[in-house]
Amino acid sequence: MPDKPRYIIAIDQGTTSSRAIVFGHDGNIVSTGQKEHEQIFPHAGWVEHDPMEIWTNVREVVGLALSKANLTRHDIAAVGITNQRETAVVWDRNTGEPVYNAIVWQDTRTQPIVNQLAENGGLDRFKDTVGLPLATYFSGTKIKWILDNVEGARERAEAGDLMFGNTDSWIVWNLTGGTDGGVHITDVTNASRTLFMNLETLAWDEDILKEFGVPKSMMPQIRSSSEVYGTVAGSQLLRETPVAGILGDQQAATFGQAAFAQGDAKNTYGTGCFLIFNTGEEIVRSENGLITTVAYQLGDAKPVYALEGSIAVTGSLIQWLRDNLGMINSAPEIEDLARQVEDNGGVYIVPAFSGLFAPYWRADARGAIVGLTRYVNKNHIARAALEATAFQTREVLDAVNADSGVPLSELRVDGGMVANDALMQFQADILGVDVVRPKVIETTALGAAYAAGLAVGFWNDTDELGQNWDEGKRWTPQMEQSERERQMRLWKKAVTKTFDWVD
Ligand code: G3P
Repeated sequence: MPDKPRYIIAIDQGTTSSRAIVFGHDGNIVSTGQKEHEQIFPHAGWVEHDPMEIWTNVREVVGLALSKANLTRHDIAAVGITNQRETAVVWDRNTGEPVYNAIVWQDTRTQPIVNQLAENGGLDRFKDTVGLPLATYFSGTKIKWILDNVEGARERAEAGDLMFGNTDSWIVWNLTGGTDGGVHITDVTNASRTLFMNLETLAWDEDILKEFGVPKSMMPQIRSSSEVYGTVAGSQLLRETPVAGILGDQQAATFGQAAFAQGDAKNTYGTGCFLIFNTGEEIVRSENGLITTVAYQLGDAKPVYALEGSIAVTGSLIQWLRDNLGMINSAPEIEDLARQVEDNGGVYIVPAFSGLFAPYWRADARGAIVGLTRYVNKNHIARAALEATAFQTREVLDAVNADSGVPLSELRVDGGMVANDALMQFQADILGVDVVRPKVIETTALGAAYAAGLAVGFWNDTDELGQNWDEGKRWTPQMEQSERERQMRLWKKAVTKTFDWVD
């Protein structure tokens, strides 16, 4: 048995896969386990996951990560959890069985619920309290849908038999014992994505819960992002290891990027893209289509807030070209195709698959490919698909700059798509500022590891974590200003073509 555990393990339960990553004290990766889960699309606009499959995969990837590095639970000082946010799981506290599949953040089935709630006070009626507009994106309407549509669910919820959680709560409850004493908790960052948490008090808002018809007994206890919540149950591989950190994945990436100071920002390129701008202890209300969220809270310290620009579809557009159109066999092939042409040939793809999130919040939008001519080939389409990510990010960055009044001088980036050089160069070109990637690009898992490690004294403070951040690569704008503005003008015109599509 080692004298002192030398590692932290992070579980990253994402939209397309679950991963476990072991980190050393220097913030470098020691080993990784990863497994994809099924994406279930029962109807147009519906997206589900099987919570049982996710829990099985989580256990498997933890085993993989440990065995690859020849480690046991005695080598691990703590477990940190990070997760796809907003995705809603409702399960029975007595049996541990979900009452329905997890309804994923991208799912738009709850639009009628949004419309109905907005009749009295509009889409922004709860925004002052919770920082969010009414939208299908957030967990609240998904919980209501399950209670309204799954037979017997409302009665069971009212009898106190059902529990709700984003996938962080689902994993922590199972990891700490499930029906045999599992803790039912979430952290402030995940709670801030439900539409139910008061941003100032960090407590569930009873009036909003009533308005949605969601019993408070279903809701997890809200805790900080970094404290010991419990230990892993005796039946698990990591038994007795403290579970000590929870952060929603985008907030985790912000933490992993060491964006601890007011004015720091990062953009993560995954299934979607999420730009988070740290506003310190101040709750800033956006006037430009951003949402207000909690960035993190360390134990008893004051919470740190952020503005967020959430873009629903970026990497998932490339997956769509692969899975639905068969245009490529693997996602990285998109870069090879895109590189074969000098420009997009006049094509713009606006991937409004779930409507448009920030900065537009248009539920009535649907995707469009515009600018097609007989000249266009699949290389142009590939290029336009990549460019869509960069254009959407520019629109969100413009909103951040407008809200903060101080333009960002560079953008820290991370996530799977930042391995794509052509995209990152175009991103710098279209933003007109440097784009910087850290050496460790697995910032989401790293952030969760940091939160857990701080709670058990594995790391001392955020200053120490900041020293682990190292620049990996930098892209500098090369495009003429006039060309940048021409491209943005065309992009914005393309966006308007997607509006008013849903009756
Ligand atoms: O808000 C949704 C976000 O948390 C999902 O992130 O990385 O799983 O696509 P990702």
